[in-house]
Amino acid sequence: MSYLSERPTKPVVGETIPHESSALHVTGKALYTDDLVGRTKDVLHAYPVRVDQAHAKVTRLDTSQALTVPGVVRVLTGDDVPGVNDAGVHHDEPLFPTEVMYFGHAVAWVLGETLEAARLGSAAVKVDFEPLPSLVRVTEAIEAGSYQGAQPTVARGNVDEGLDRSEHVFTGTFEFAGQEHFYLETQAALAQVDENGQIFIQSSTQHPTETQDIVSHVLGLPAHCVTVQCLRMGGGFGGKEMQPHGYAAIAALGATLTGRPVRLRLNRTQDLTMCGKRHGFHAEWRVGFSSDGYLEALDATLTADGGWSIDLSEPVLARALCHIDNAYWIPDVRVHGRIAKTNKTSQTAFRGFGGPQGMLVLEDILGRCAPLLGIDPAELRRRNFYTEGQETPYGMPVRHPDRLETAWSQVLSSGDISRRQADISAFNAAHEDTKRAIAITPVKFGISFNLTAFNQGGALVLVYKDGSVLINHGGTEMGQGLHTKMMQVAATTLGVPLSTVRLAPTRTDKVPNASATAASSGTDLNGGAVKNACDQIRERLTVVAAGRLGVPAHDVRFEQGNVIGLGTDEQMTWEELINIAYFQRIQLSASGFYRTEGLHWDATTMKGTPFKYFAYGVAATEVEVDGFTGAYRTRRVDIVHDVGDSLSPLIDLGQIEGGFVQGAGWLTLEDLRWDDRDGPTRGRLSTQAASTYKLPSFSEMPEVFNVELLDKAHEEGAVYGSKAVGEPPLMLAFSVREALRQAAAAFGPEGTSIDLASPATPEAVYWAIEQARDARADGHLTQGFPGEVPAQPGPDARPMLANAERGQYGVPSGV
Ligand code: MTE
Ligand code: MOS
Repeated sequence: MSYLSERPTKPVVGETIPHESSALHVTGKALYTDDLVGRTKDVLHAYPVRVDQAHAKVTRLDTSQALTVPGVVRVLTGDDVPGVNDAGVHHDEPLFPTEVMYFGHAVAWVLGETLEAARLGSAAVKVDFEPLPSLVRVTEAIEAGSYQGAQPTVARGNVDEGLDRSEHVFTGTFEFAGQEHFYLETQAALAQVDENGQIFIQSSTQHPTETQDIVSHVLGLPAHCVTVQCLRMGGGFGGKEMQPHGYAAIAALGATLTGRPVRLRLNRTQDLTMCGKRHGFHAEWRVGFSSDGYLEALDATLTADGGWSIDLSEPVLARALCHIDNAYWIPDVRVHGRIAKTNKTSQTAFRGFGGPQGMLVLEDILGRCAPLLGIDPAELRRRNFYTEGQETPYGMPVRHPDRLETAWSQVLSSGDISRRQADISAFNAAHEDTKRAIAITPVKFGISFNLTAFNQGGALVLVYKDGSVLINHGGTEMGQGLHTKMMQVAATTLGVPLSTVRLAPTRTDKVPNASATAASSGTDLNGGAVKNACDQIRERLTVVAAGRLGVPAHDVRFEQGNVIGLGTDEQMTWEELINIAYFQRIQLSASGFYRTEGLHWDATTMKGTPFKYFAYGVAATEVEVDGFTGAYRTRRVDIVHDVGDSLSPLIDLGQIEGGFVQGAGWLTLEDLRWDDRDGPTRGRLSTQAASTYKLPSFSEMPEVFNVELLDKAHEEGAVYGSKAVGEPPLMLAFSVREALRQAAAAFGPEGTSIDLASPATPEAVYWAIEQARDARADGHLTQGFPGEVPAQPGPDARPMLANAERGQYGVPSGV
């Protein structure tokens, strides 16, 4: 195990180098799946036949007219499927459905000589249907009892006793929105069949192996007949973990039936309206605090809005339940989870994979309760941090919680927080219609797939006779820099310069049975495998070198392309050694494998050690809010984030900045709206373009943005002491939302508790400010957000405390 984190001399890991494709990215030369179409002959284009109903039974599908449209070659329907008509792994996702499950569900696909021909053909397909009753909002599904999948509970201790013991008990509900991935490259696949029936699919997929599995079962073929390649993705963010499979299967089916290459690429509106997104959640909670603000108990029910099929909703929900604690020790906990089945796109993985949703619930609770407890929110958070020796509610020890404390203090000092807090108080006192606030929030995020089996990786490393090295691994590149890190790991382990190493596209015929590049574990798993393959080669080479240099094997060093014998002046170049080894008939290639040790997880009891380690981070964000409009600016962000010993500092900084901004987009700007009115457009996603779905852009960037990596953060047992970075920084954006809450509260009297909608769009912030102003006018300290939480105004300082709860939990009167 520890070989993974040994410190090599002169490592290439840790060097500040740009992303391996950055020059190609910025010059527009980087190829993406759909760019390959221009390099392929006789390509057919696929276009969906969609039904604009939230829920309906298809009674007749008439393709005859479509076949008369010039350029239409074929219409694919369920009758064409030789294998299993399903795009998922749970058999609840018919590739060609006979029941329309969400607005715009595709029921057939037209193949045309041109995209335009296919589009016109699609318009000529006649679909008859009978509308069925639909559920669009998550609350409609809850009312109807419409659920899918398992309903797990994470529990520890006795939550009723915990609430009894609590000095303060609060209750609330919170419904918050999901998020659109908005990767720059939409879903795309290009399928070809060779003379022997071998199918080759290039797909923009985070999970080539699963794309291969699904294509195989749709076509009724063994996996060895199907090869999937992913060159790179123009972003995935979880949206290409499960969702690409069906599109790849359509292209592959078309290719096998016509013998011609078939291309399928969704246009932006299709992608937005057909593909799964981050799950919105509904949460109901009761929380108990001691008199001095320590969390005593949490009882919560989380309902993930799963959409029409189960997809990845179960693991997403599991991760939400395993992250509701975020960085905080809660003695007695019961968190129950369920997945609503609604007539919407099938919601899926999205950076953080349910973790952000779980954590948002508790961060929202802390933000709402801090004023009611009369404790500064930052202090309330810090007070409740895990300490050494404590375990998560699912029974995993929290290692290194001191890193949280260290990161927190570092942010306080590097962000000059206490001076700026004083400035802000003065500013707020002097400005009636503009308020500022700083919020500080922590992140603790578990790294590994919850399901233990997925925590394996494979690699294939080839050293050619001239000494050049080609590496393959099972992970995919989506912009996150995995390939860059893998090349650094290979160069480090083999002791060669980076320029000696080249990386080949991810292919299922090079590395089989790979897990999705997801859960931020791409580097841990594939890095472990690449290192393992390189270690094997280096071991063989060491014997050869020792013989030539006349030193014992343990005195051979591989450094930057030179092979050195310690204690002698003898040395040779890497290329010379490879040449010698070749003539000695030494195998110069190896397949590597890695599995994360020490993990176990029981999905029925929801107990175990599902994660290898936790990634930590702390962010402080200052915002300024305009009292007339609710518009806001992010004035400054200070982040300290734990990536272990960084393998690639520039890549890691990019991931932290990008993750933070994407999280801030989710929490403050990006507003998915589904039409839930009765009528012909019920179930339609109204925000189906960048014009109506606001993404963060330059104007929303923090005006000052300081990111530091936590120092002395070597992680024992992970590849070269590094930690995963892909997802955790997204959740640093809670600090933006909490700063907005605090700034809105500053429009009211001291102690105002603000119920803020998510996303906290300028409009939502405006209503939050109105709550604060009403509190001032009425002398009440809280108000419910209109339509969200019933207001519980009262003359005392604890108006959120429902009267019923007092009796039930024996809360002392007067609190
Ligand atoms: N960064 C970029 N630029 N593009 C992406 O699509 N996806 C994120 C994260 N960072 C993503 C990204 C998600 S959801 C995950 S799980 C990780 O990268 C996956 O890659 P890793 O395991 O190699 O970190
Ligand atoms: Mo990331 S949501 O695990 O692809």
